[in-house]
Amino acid sequence: MRDALTPMMQQYRRLRGSIPADTLLLFRLGDFYELFFEDAKEASGLLNVALTKRNGVPMCGVPYHAAQTYIAKLIKAGRRVAICDQTSEPQPGKIVSRDITQIVSAGTVSDLDLLEAKRANYIGAVYADSGIFGFAYADLSTGEFRITQLQDRQSLLDQVARVSPAELLITSEQKEQIGEIDHALDYDSYAFLPEQAVFTLCEHFKVKSLDGFGCAQMPQGVAAAGAIVHYLKHQLRRTIDHLTSLRSDAPADYVLLDAATQAHLELVDSRSVRDTSLLAVLDRTATPMGGRKLRAWILQPLRNLPELQRRQQMIADLLEEPDLLAAIRGNLKSIRDIERATGRLSQASGNARDLVALKTSLQEIPRLKRELQELIERASFGMEASSKNSVEAAVSAANSSTEQPTRLPLQQNLQNGIHEMPALADKLAKALIDDPPFALKEGGIFRDGYDADLDALRQASREGKNWISHLQEREIAATGIKSLKVRYNSVFGYFIEVTKSHLANVPAHYTRKQTTVGGERFITPELKEMEAKILGADERARQLEYQLFQKLRDETLRELAPIQQTAEAIGVLDVICAFAETARLFRYCRPTLNETLRLVIKDGRHPVLDQTLVEEKFVPNDTSLDGENPRLAIITGPNMAGKSTYIRQVALIVLMAQIGSFVPAESAEIGLADRIFTRVGASDDLARGQSTFMVEMNETSNIINNATERSLVILDEIGRGTSTFDGLSIAWSVAEFLHDKIKARTLFATHYHELTKLAEDRPGICNFNVAVREWNEQIIFLRKIIPGGADKSYGIHVARLAGLPKEILDRAKEILARLEKPDSAIETTAVGEPRRRRKSAKSSDKPQLDLL
Ligand SMILES: Nc1ncnc2c1ncn2[C@@H]1O[C@H](COP(=O)(O)OP(=O)(O)OP(=O)(O)O)[C@@H](O)[C@H]1O
Ligand SMILES: [Mg+2]
Repeated sequence: MRDALTPMMQQYRRLRGSIPADTLLLFRLGDFYELFFEDAKEASGLLNVALTKRNGVPMCGVPYHAAQTYIAKLIKAGRRVAICDQTSEPQPGKIVSRDITQIVSAGTVSDLDLLEAKRANYIGAVYADSGIFGFAYADLSTGEFRITQLQDRQSLLDQVARVSPAELLITSEQKEQIGEIDHALDYDSYAFLPEQAVFTLCEHFKVKSLDGFGCAQMPQGVAAAGAIVHYLKHQLRRTIDHLTSLRSDAPADYVLLDAATQAHLELVDSRSVRDTSLLAVLDRTATPMGGRKLRAWILQPLRNLPELQRRQQMIADLLEEPDLLAAIRGNLKSIRDIERATGRLSQASGNARDLVALKTSLQEIPRLKRELQELIERASFGMEASSKNSVEAAVSAANSSTEQPTRLPLQQNLQNGIHEMPALADKLAKALIDDPPFALKEGGIFRDGYDADLDALRQASREGKNWISHLQEREIAATGIKSLKVRYNSVFGYFIEVTKSHLANVPAHYTRKQTTVGGERFITPELKEMEAKILGADERARQLEYQLFQKLRDETLRELAPIQQTAEAIGVLDVICAFAETARLFRYCRPTLNETLRLVIKDGRHPVLDQTLVEEKFVPNDTSLDGENPRLAIITGPNMAGKSTYIRQVALIVLMAQIGSFVPAESAEIGLADRIFTRVGASDDLARGQSTFMVEMNETSNIINNATERSLVILDEIGRGTSTFDGLSIAWSVAEFLHDKIKARTLFATHYHELTKLAEDRPGICNFNVAVREWNEQIIFLRKIIPGGADKSYGIHVARLAGLPKEILDRAKEILARLEKPDSAIETTAVGEPRRRRKSAKSSDKPQLDLL
């Protein structure tokens, strides 16, 4: 059978065998990438292209020049794609040599078209051993590489949810142990072996031990990181020199947000069609680096007080100098995605446009640094000048000097992190034309005057073309044939065309090449000689340009470290400026942060609704918890009154404060939280085969098991997904437990008015409700949180607002009236459940349960 294969098919088989079975092979054949056999069957469906057969072999193909779009489709469909290119020029009678040049996968795409600019694209790996879970993740487009270790499976899943890697390596044995994880991909367990992993990493970073990365004591994390490097180098055949260091994240540095909280608070993704996530309303960044950093910060708030205060101080300084804020933000707009540009260049997939992006950005940097310097000087001057006469400034100066005596202001750090690199900027500017082509081997990248050899070749080509362009005049004069033309096509190159009627006058030294309908085509020895010169010069110029590009790329990458540092600092600068801008536009305040358990907010607003409400104006509300009395607030009130909004707003304000942002309030004092938990609404997770109530209880038990007194807990109607009695009992005991045992600061919104009784014998619990006013059988929502419990739900009023028919509403009112009277029976059979529910109710206006 094997003998029957053509040499090309043999080549195909060999290459196909060298890549993982689940990877599709795109095989370059002339102007197409072809897929064969099973690959073809699968890809034709995914790409919607025709499946054909040649010599019994199923195949389909996509045009070479449009390959990116098709590759993108395959990646989006969750496939990996190996690209096989021709590595020699076609020669008659010989088979072209081919090799796999790249394997592209969702976690490792570098093509800018496939990446979201403001979102990191991670490849991750997990490895569990001795009950500890190691998690590593890398963004190949920027060079970020981190590891962390978690104490239990749930925390691992929360971290994976935060990072949401596009690909996650795991051994098949551990997949069973850890369970289903999105985007998991089996990988060779050998690569995860701790010794192998250390070896892989030391070899990659060219170090003797990993101690310098602070991860010597993190064997599980290291195993995961080693597997990533192994996978990238050996399976995907990538050059990953730009992964220059490994950072270890200690969970204690960050506020932990579990996956449910991340989703419930709509931090980076929103459920509505219009993006109403926190990220969307805060994102006033100007650069992709800033956009990605903001997203990462929101998902990983800090617990480090001095660092947060540094961020706050820089925002305050910028707000003092609105002209500088505007100038810096304007300046940032011209800075391109230098992080990903250098990422691509390091992986040999970058092109001249990436170098131009770098150049354009580098040219902006001196101005940016001047503005930053101005900010540093004005801020330090302001501090000195006002500390004599302004109490406030004196306090803030004192704060900053006692709490962080050795730390530089953030702007000074950023200033040190942003490097000018004038020599590189200059070299790139001198070398590259402003708008070079994508292709690297077609020339047209470099400026005249950059390289003497290139100039000479271009000159030769120009002269040749010039000679040819005058040839027509000369030949017309010599032969007297007025209609003689010198033309070019790709088959014959240059030729002289003479129409039929003048063939008699053709000189003897013309050689006939081709007869056409209208006449004949000729060449002459001197024309061919000149043509060879031109084509030779063009060809050599193209080759030379490619070499020059590689050289320039290598020279640029010698500055990799300062460029990466600059990109990082610009990302931070951009986010801080975005915070300042948002604070300026929406009058945010600088929250006082400390290590107490206080949570005091005056006139707080919901950051999203505050920006998006159009019909009504957002009504601000206060919050006051202190970890003691009260530490748990129960919020009751009618449907639609604003309970959920209020408790989420508090969580979002705390979160914003812990990423260093100012917050939508008149004033705020926030004792740093170690975790933020939310249990909001009833969301079905049908995909995972769990019922509403099961999901709800899972999330609740996660809170109970992990919250500490430093945590902030937001509970929205827990217990709602089951029968009234069960639900109320669970809500009641959860509230008790949170108050008595855990002592976490808690906001609990509920329709179980019975819960308001908890406050009677527990000083740490207090009741609030959302004020409404009844007017002409209507309710007016006042949106104000006031002390005390609510006594009515007004559900029927809300049902009317929603357009339920009058007949149903009237009947509901009737039933409600009877239910609220003790011992009343309802004259029908259809409403059995409410009757049972009210049997034990004692008073008519305030429903209570004997049970409790
Ligand atoms: N403080 C406020 N200022 C202005 N509008 C508000 C405010 N709070 C809430 N709203 C508006 O009221 C709507 C309903 O609020 P929310 O969902 O918080 O009510 P709820 O009390 O939780 O209702 P339910 O009991 O039905 O869950 C919000 O979508 C928002 O448009
Ligand atoms: Mg609600």
